Amino acid sequence: MQLFLHFTVLIQIAYSYKFIPTNQKQNYNFATNTILHKNVAKVEEVPHHVLIVYGSYFCSGSLIRSQVVLTTASCFDRSPHRKTVVKVGADTVTGPGQVISVVEIKIHEYYKHSSDASHDVALLALKEHAEFSDKVKKIVIVDPEVALRVGTSIDVSGWGHSNLPAKYLNHLVWSEMVVISNEECRKFYNGLITDSNFCAKYQVERRLSDNGGPALFRNLLVGMLSFGGTKREEPHIAVFSNASYFHRWITLNSRRFLEKYCVDLEPDLDISLKSLNDMI
Ligand SMILES: *[C@@H]1O[C@H](CO)[C@@H](O)[C@H](O)[C@H]1NC(C)=O
Repeated sequence: MQLFLHFTVLIQIAYSYKFIPTNQKQNYNFATNTILHKNVAKVEEVPHHVLIVYGSYFCSGSLIRSQVVLTTASCFDRSPHRKTVVKVGADTVTGPGQVISVVEIKIHEYYKHSSDASHDVALLALKEHAEFSDKVKKIVIVDPEVALRVGTSIDVSGWGHSNLPAKYLNHLVWSEMVVISNEECRKFYNGLITDSNFCAKYQVERRLSDNGGPALFRNLLVGMLSFGGTKREEPHIAVFSNASYFHRWITLNSRRFLEKYCVDLEPDLDISLKSLNDMI
């Protein structure tokens, strides 16, 4: 109950987060908007999606091992030393799910600050294993050196923005986006786009409220939402951290977590350990 209240308070202040439009003139008629009905995601469709709560802000991330979450470094700009927890297996911010403390946040060595989308990647080590189920699964990261063609459609999940009616405000939503070239993207976000990024355009009503969220292509994690327009008038183009580009960094640092905390097991072992526990 206490936790529930805690999350409810969070939603009210989350409007100040950078991915939320600051200037919302849009008046949504949810009842007649069929696109938005399809937008709502069930956690079974995105069982790797993780809610990250740090201080009084929230973000999205992806479970890549039972004890490791991949997200963006920009999530932690505002309160880097606050207590951070994640919740897995939940499709609403306030709904039930497994809440796990974060024991370490690894920010990319080359990341500077949120106004710079370069090297916007971070890994979280969890205190306990996420318990795998229909609602909780890890995601496979796309191989290194894999390029997405311009025009490829990707599915991005995140927490619903404040244009939505209150009952969908804290719900997990889908946003379909289409990859554009970095060259085209630089026309809008010049100087912000580096080799570690790619961009995708979206429909204005599919804007997400937070960053760190996973972009999927054929069930592979291809990107993490790093930055997006904050105004309705701006180009509706989101900037991602390229998962393929960071493949080596992610592998190395996940392994480092594994050695340091000595607890991250391979999925098969997780299952056998569970059945072993059941037998004891
Ligand atoms: C992502 O990174 C890979 C590996 O560096 C690269 O080949 C690719 O062109 C980048 N961009 C996209 C959109 O895939």
